Amino acid sequence: MCGIVAYIGHKPAKSLLIEGLKRLEYRGYDSAGIAVLNDQMHMTKTVGRVRVLEEMLDSEPGFSGTLGLAHTRWATHGEVNHTNAHPHSYESPDGNKFVMVHNGIIENYAAVRTYLQEKGHTFISDTDTEALVHLIGELYDGDLETAVQAALREITGAYAIVVICEQEPDTLVVGRQGAPLIVGVGKDEYVVASDSSAIVAHTTQAFTLDDYTVAKLTRDSFRTTTIDNIPITPQVRELEFDLDQIELSGYEHYMAKEIHEQPQALRLCLKGRIDPRKGQIVLGGIADHARELVKAQRIVLLGQGTALHAAMIGEYLMEDLAKIPTEVDFASEFRYRNPIVQDGTVVVAISQSGETADSLAALQEAKQRGALALGVVNVVGSSISRETDAGVYLRVGPEIGVASTKAFLGQVMVCTMLATFIGRRRFLSMDQVSTLLEELQAIPDHIEQVLSYSEQIKDATAKYIERENWLFLGRGYNYPVALEGALKLKEISYIHAEGMPAAEMKHGPIALIDDGMPVVFVATRNSQYDKVMCNIEEVRSRGGHIIAVATEGDEEIRRLAEDVFYVPKVPAPLEPLVTVVPLQLLAYHAAVLRGKDVDKPRNLAKSVTVE
Ligand code: G6P
Repeated sequence: MCGIVAYIGHKPAKSLLIEGLKRLEYRGYDSAGIAVLNDQMHMTKTVGRVRVLEEMLDSEPGFSGTLGLAHTRWATHGEVNHTNAHPHSYESPDGNKFVMVHNGIIENYAAVRTYLQEKGHTFISDTDTEALVHLIGELYDGDLETAVQAALREITGAYAIVVICEQEPDTLVVGRQGAPLIVGVGKDEYVVASDSSAIVAHTTQAFTLDDYTVAKLTRDSFRTTTIDNIPITPQVRELEFDLDQIELSGYEHYMAKEIHEQPQALRLCLKGRIDPRKGQIVLGGIADHARELVKAQRIVLLGQGTALHAAMIGEYLMEDLAKIPTEVDFASEFRYRNPIVQDGTVVVAISQSGETADSLAALQEAKQRGALALGVVNVVGSSISRETDAGVYLRVGPEIGVASTKAFLGQVMVCTMLATFIGRRRFLSMDQVSTLLEELQAIPDHIEQVLSYSEQIKDATAKYIERENWLFLGRGYNYPVALEGALKLKEISYIHAEGMPAAEMKHGPIALIDDGMPVVFVATRNSQYDKVMCNIEEVRSRGGHIIAVATEGDEEIRRLAEDVFYVPKVPAPLEPLVTVVPLQLLAYHAAVLRGKDVDKPRNLAKSVTVE
């Protein structure tokens, strides 16, 4: 949610910043802006995408410095317009110009604004950011680092900021509290960004700023302190992915690439973690907490969006395989309903980015109340991963498409391993686990097979592409899959879609079914098959078009469904890992057929770092 990139070094900053913004654009794309300092400050910004900014810069002279910052915005305070776009600036009465980019929300910005207005400041935008850059300018007394520290002591909220000022052409100051910011450390240069994708082309050494800390970067040195100016030494680490992982590699969209990468991503997720022969699961990240997990009285799984759907599958898995009472909650709701955390409660935050503000806050709340706090996270070193007592990384590689696909499968895969890990120590026999793990190991191959039906799924989708309302229905393990299918479709193609338990349809939604409404059933051959078939009959008799995700070899379903997407037969707990894939492809093809911007759907951002 908002992408920040900044540079100080000896190379021309402009092209580096634009290239970085393009990598970060999935974080927000309402507007974009850049400032570069050479002899004086040069700044420009625009509503729209980074490419619009890039075109504007072609005709703007002056952006030749080696110090600068840039931003791509997902609007929080203030509508999407030029004035509210970042960077924001302040010029002091003595002519010193301050420029800042910000990700997050300053909660007390109104009070700061009033205070500054009383001192004669005038504001041109509606943003909280403008209040903060003015405050920094107001507190400036010849040292930018000191002014930033002082200003940050006065504000509440979440932020990742980068600030420069004309009087200090060799200094870049960054600060962080609750929003991601990474400092890439090169040779006589630093690249600062909201995530590693904008850094790896320049350096693989980096450190993550802790909350309430500030870093002052000059061309050949850096210093980090708390906002109270207590020096701290950050841990410089090796960034774990290379550029190839974040290129399109011949695909038209990241989403398509990530869907097709799923078999390989899951092989990496499983690598070194399961041994079917011995019925063994090795999850290094939680090994020290195995006892607490096995003795857990209750597990609470938290997430938002697609991660919540993975958590819902996790609930079935935990109760089925580990036999521990488990519940799922939106992280955003858990936090505010005065949750009860008794002895033996384990809370697991599931998040691709590890930065979702609600998930992070809920985890902190649970931890404070005494829960063992675990994370199932993709991005190494992210805020959630740093906040947890322990956790398991997805290891599925960077996910760029805003609509989550391979991370979802990674989350489900990790939940499956976690539930089996606990189950083996409680009730599951070695034979049971061996069989399950063998099946788990075969999942990537099964997904490959499903992916090969992509064209068939595209043709079927094309038949219903004019339809504005869809239903997705499933039971048991496939109920969250139905929710995920509906979410995928609505978020990238803007078609209205609802997912629900197949049985629930009769309690209201059946009234929506009219002639030709596409209804997608996840109707695999498991214990609930007959019941789902009855539900299909009910929809059919009311004129709905049936599209079914079914088990290979099921000819019976063809009698009722106009289109059938087959998946290989797997044990029920593993079904979501294969049944969701046709639904991802359906949503992808629908968005492409409708001419939508698949990787950057309107109003969405990949990483929601505000509550
Ligand atoms: C946003 C994204 C979703 C994602 C959700 C949770 O809404 O658009 O794709 O599922 O955030 O993100 P997380 O990084 O916590 O998994």
